Amino acid sequence: MPDKSRFDRLWRHAGLATMEPGAGGLGLIRDGAIGCRDGRIAFVGPDCDLPATIDADVELDCAGRLITPGLVDCHTHLVHGGHRAHEFELRLKGASYKEIAEAGGGILSTVKATRAASEAELVASALPRLDRLLAEGVTTLEVKSGYGLDRDTETRMLAAARRLATVRDVTIRTSYLGAHALPPETADKDAYIERICHEVLPALAAEGLVDAVDAFCETIAFSPAQCDRLFGAAAGLGLRVKLHADQLSNGGGGALAARHRALSADHLEFTDEAGALALAEAGTVAVVLPGAYYFLRETQAPPVEAFRRHGVAMAVATDCNPGSSPLTSLLLAANMAATLFRLTVEECLLGITREAARALGLLEEIGTLTRGKWADLAIWHVDEPAELVYRIGFNPLHTRVRRGR
Ligand code: NIG
Ligand code: FE
Repeated sequence: MPDKSRFDRLWRHAGLATMEPGAGGLGLIRDGAIGCRDGRIAFVGPDCDLPATIDADVELDCAGRLITPGLVDCHTHLVHGGHRAHEFELRLKGASYKEIAEAGGGILSTVKATRAASEAELVASALPRLDRLLAEGVTTLEVKSGYGLDRDTETRMLAAARRLATVRDVTIRTSYLGAHALPPETADKDAYIERICHEVLPALAAEGLVDAVDAFCETIAFSPAQCDRLFGAAAGLGLRVKLHADQLSNGGGGALAARHRALSADHLEFTDEAGALALAEAGTVAVVLPGAYYFLRETQAPPVEAFRRHGVAMAVATDCNPGSSPLTSLLLAANMAATLFRLTVEECLLGITREAARALGLLEEIGTLTRGKWADLAIWHVDEPAELVYRIGFNPLHTRVRRGR
């Protein structure tokens, strides 16, 4: 039985937004304390509930600052070669994202740059983006492949993503997004899907590089039937799935993700009522990505009201990628989710902590301030939680803590 009053580190006199589901709203505790032992939360609660005698190696007075769980960015394409600033200029002149993609630009231009990059180069180019996220209190993020499309480059992307977690203090979850676009050297989408189901995915999974499998279900990408096949193969390997669903048109992506008990369905601008209901029934998290909506100047927002009505959990992520969301601020994503999608401040803050952890299948370990979970924390210079969502381009982070340090 560990001594309940011994802590490696103890933070006292802080506002706590525990994000605990039972506690209602953000689970706020006004004058709170958190103690950690061996990297995990050993005490969380009102400061006055601390044991009478405390043995803490380090005791810190937070002077009323706010502590939240470390932020979780549950949808990024952080690792990639090059950039697409020129396509941004083309779009400013009137070209659409779809037109650029159909003319061989878009995702395929990043595929070219990514194939030309070594693993070390991919790590080096991702680090400044990662550092921006970490500077805002992100302690866990997801990184997708999908800009290689051939086995070697997809392997390099996933290995680079894993390597980031060895050069920075962060948890990284990787998703294999081989079904992002049809590789330029291939003409047949069905044959490509067969190949990744039978060769590439099993090989990457055997190398331990894949935490989940993602796909882009869209008229310009892969059909629901093709995504179905891929998700069947993922299930055969014991891997959970996620889906880029209904971003540009309603392809029934929400329902498809739900059918496969996906961890999350992401984007969802064109998801209908039936899709929202299916997500709720499956317990699949709806990940909204306002950065892509903003950057592509879309006009149809995801059906947030239907998600609320049916009780779909909502997460918010950056979708950091070179084509549709070159965004490296999760706080700005939260602000955009509020202003553009009308999420409440509470929904935004839960969406970048608890629900984002759920979208990665990590809720048992992170995402709320709960005894036994990892002590991944963000300590903020703010008076109240709403300030985190309300400010634009301002970073009030005081300290980022991962695994208790
Ligand atoms: O999440 N929707 C597909 N994939 C990315 C965009 C990728 C790109 O344009 O490079 C997204 O928005
Ligand atoms: Fe994406």
